[in-house]
Amino acid sequence: MNFRPYALLAEVTYRCPLHCPYCSNPAMYPGGNELTTSEWQRVIDEAAALGVLQAGFSGGEPLLRPDLAQLIAHARQAGLYTNLITSSLGLDAKRAHELREAGLDSVQISFQAEEAVLADAIAGARAHEKKIAAARIAREAGLPLSTNVVLHRRNIDRLREIVAFAASLGAIRLELANVQYYGWAFLNRAQLLPTREQVHTARQIAEEEKARCREQMDIFYVLPDYYEDRPKPCMNGWGRRYLTVNAVGDTLPCPTASSIPGLRFENVRARSLAWIWSESESFQQFRGEDWMREPCRGCPERTRDFGGCRCQATLLTGDPANTDPVCGLSRIVP
Ligand code: SF4
Ligand code: FES
Repeated sequence: MNFRPYALLAEVTYRCPLHCPYCSNPAMYPGGNELTTSEWQRVIDEAAALGVLQAGFSGGEPLLRPDLAQLIAHARQAGLYTNLITSSLGLDAKRAHELREAGLDSVQISFQAEEAVLADAIAGARAHEKKIAAARIAREAGLPLSTNVVLHRRNIDRLREIVAFAASLGAIRLELANVQYYGWAFLNRAQLLPTREQVHTARQIAEEEKARCREQMDIFYVLPDYYEDRPKPCMNGWGRRYLTVNAVGDTLPCPTASSIPGLRFENVRARSLAWIWSESESFQQFRGEDWMREPCRGCPERTRDFGGCRCQATLLTGDPANTDPVCGLSRIVP
């Protein structure tokens, strides 16, 4: 089968001023050795040639790269839709204008909560008021604004307040994403995991708020895996739609695929993106259905959920080729 990537996630740096306990980009990565401007430009050109339609610039904190506007301009020239995924620390009016001029299509700012004391405690930095200011600056620069709040035990009871807060910022989209338990989140899961009752109430409130706000703002509620009966179609299937190039040039089928022991990731400094996409072992490993075992192998759901999440199967069962243990049909109890 011929797969074509749709989106490139460009993790242009690992550096970040925040210390969120659920981050999948923890300080386990060494600093330095980041791809240069010209290396990123080549990656962007190769992605466009492969058929990629959009590029998300992320990190770490992408605003820490002084050449960010240059990279965004390059992506726009290559015909890609560009999105900046940021904490917004470092976004002043001059920078916002520069990014807009470079052709940035949209910006997504993460918030930790709607209330400053809690938000700053979660972020491990005094950031909340700066983020509010940056959201206003982004809007004034004419950038369509999305917001993202990662939900966990400490903030999931505040959904109505969070929705009102996002609306007050003028966001056109609010992503409410229950923590995905990879990276630091997996290590910190005992303090992050909400109760089943919290999750149940939050889902009801999210549905109500989604209906109530639909004229003003799209609310996108990402379900919490651990309390579902079927897994999500993670990454829309391994090696089918997405590719991530990290700060040092390693290219991954999923941003957290490095949590899978034994997978070797090719680097754009040594290989073309086209070769990595179509030939590399890491992209081939769980692409399609050949790798599946029972019960996925004979399950009609496999064309919808692709057997769930490989990173989660690894973290909870120790074997990436197992059925995602979130699935009620999995025989493995983590
Ligand atoms: Fe999906 Fe596999 Fe569960 Fe079937 S058995 S629903 S394919 S995870
Ligand atoms: Fe990596 Fe699901 S998060 S495959």
